Amino acid sequence: MARTDTPPADLFTPAFHQDPHQALAELRRTAPAVPVMTPNGLRTWLVTGYEHARELLADPRLSKDMRVGKDLIPHNFADPDKQREFLAESGERSQFPHVLSVHMLDSDPPDHTRLRRLVGRAFTARRVESLRPRITELTDELLEAMARHAEVDLMEALAFPVPFTVICWLLGVPPDDRAAFRRWSNLLVSGAGTEEVREASASMIAYLKALIETKRAAPADDMLTDLVHARDADDQLSSDELISMAFLLLVAGHETTVNLIGNGTLALLTHPGVREQLAADASLWPAAVEEFLRYDGPVTNATWRFTTEPVEVGDVVIPEGEFVTISLGAAGRDPARYPDPDRLDVTRSHSASVAFGHGIHHCLGAPLARLEGQIVISRLFARFPALRPAVDVAELRWRSSLMMRGLAELPVFTA
Ligand code: HEM
Repeated sequence: MARTDTPPADLFTPAFHQDPHQALAELRRTAPAVPVMTPNGLRTWLVTGYEHARELLADPRLSKDMRVGKDLIPHNFADPDKQREFLAESGERSQFPHVLSVHMLDSDPPDHTRLRRLVGRAFTARRVESLRPRITELTDELLEAMARHAEVDLMEALAFPVPFTVICWLLGVPPDDRAAFRRWSNLLVSGAGTEEVREASASMIAYLKALIETKRAAPADDMLTDLVHARDADDQLSSDELISMAFLLLVAGHETTVNLIGNGTLALLTHPGVREQLAADASLWPAAVEEFLRYDGPVTNATWRFTTEPVEVGDVVIPEGEFVTISLGAAGRDPARYPDPDRLDVTRSHSASVAFGHGIHHCLGAPLARLEGQIVISRLFARFPALRPAVDVAELRWRSSLMMRGLAELPVFTA
C-alpha cells in the first residue's frame, strides 16, 4: 500500500511533456494513486485509472474550494523554502487576485450549485447551436488565409483564433479590444514572469469591470449581457462573481479547445488510415472528436482537488488534507476501459468518457468545444487534402504545462 511518506515521484520533467503516456502507464501499473511532486514543490496524489477517475471526480469528500484548502497547503510541501515561496506568492501579492477565483470551478455546493444554475441560464444549448454558421464562416475565412502560404503554423493560423474569437463573441468583447484582450489572456494562461502576470490580471479585471458596466447600460445579444441580468428568484451574480465567471470562461474556453484542435490535427496527420476513413465517411466526425479527446486530450491533469477526509482508492488510502489530481490523460488510456488504448480508433464506443470531467463540475462548455472541434478539424482536412507536417513530428515542442497538453507550434505544408 502506498503511504504519505513515500517519496513523491518527480514526474513533470521535459521528457514527460514530450510523451506523458508512457510515464502515466507506468504509474497506473504501480498503484491506483501515487504521490508526485509538482515543479513548484507541492505534493499531489495522481490518480490514473479510468474507474477511479470517474468515482473521484464525483466524490463529495474531495473539495475544490481553496478558501477551505489553503490551510492544507503548508504540510503538502516537502521543502520548507518552496513552502515559504508559495505562501509569500499566495498572500497579498498573489498572481491571481481573489476576484478571479470566486467561480464555480473552484467552489463546492451550495456555492457551486448557485453559480452553475445562474450561468446555465445564459449558456444554453440554443446559444451554442446558433453559433454553428458563424464558426463555419470564421473557419473558412482562416482556411482561405492559410491557402495563401505554402507553410503555416497551424496553432497560430487556426487552432488559436477560432476558440479565442468565439469566446470574444460570447462575452461580447468588441473587435477593437481583442488584441489587448489576447495579450492579457496569453500572459495569464502562460504563467510567464509573475510581475507581468500581475499587471495583466489587473488590466484584465479593469477591462472586464468596464465591459460589464457597458453591458449593464446597453444590453447586447451576448452571454455577458445575459449573465449580468441572470436571476434566480432574488439571486443574482455579484460584480466579483461576474468578473470571475467571465475570466473562467475565457481561460477554460479557449486554452482547452485550442489544444483539442492542435492535438486532433496532429493525430490525423500521423494516422493516414484514419484520415482516409473520415474522408470516406463524414458521419464518423463526431466520434472522431471524442477519440481525439481520449487519445491525446487537452486536459491531462487540470482536475486538482483535496481530501476533506481519508479516501480509499483501490488498496491505497489517501489521508485527509491531501491534494489529489485526477489524470484524465491516463484515464483515457486505461486498458481496462479501452482495449488497445494506444491505438487511434474512431469507431470506439465513447459512452461515459471523462475527457470533460464527471459529476457536478462536468464541463459546462463541452457542447461548444465539440462543435468547434468538429467544424474546424473536418473543414481543415477537406480544404487541404495534401496537408502534412512541415517538420519531423518527433521534434515538435510541447508546452510544459502541468495541467494542459498542447503544442507550442505545429508547422504544416498546405499543398
Ligand atoms: C470544467 C474540460 C472547453 C467551460 C471542465 C472540466 C474539464 C473540462 C475536465 C472539469 C474540471 C474538474 O472537474 O476539475 C474541457 C475540455 C475542453 C473544454 C477538454 C475543450 C476541448 C470548454 C469551453 C468552455 C468551458 C469551450 C466555455 C466556453 C468550463 C467551465 C467549467 C469547465 C465553466 C466549470 C464547470 C463547473 O465547475 O461546474 N472543463 N473544457 N470548457 N469547463 Fe471545460
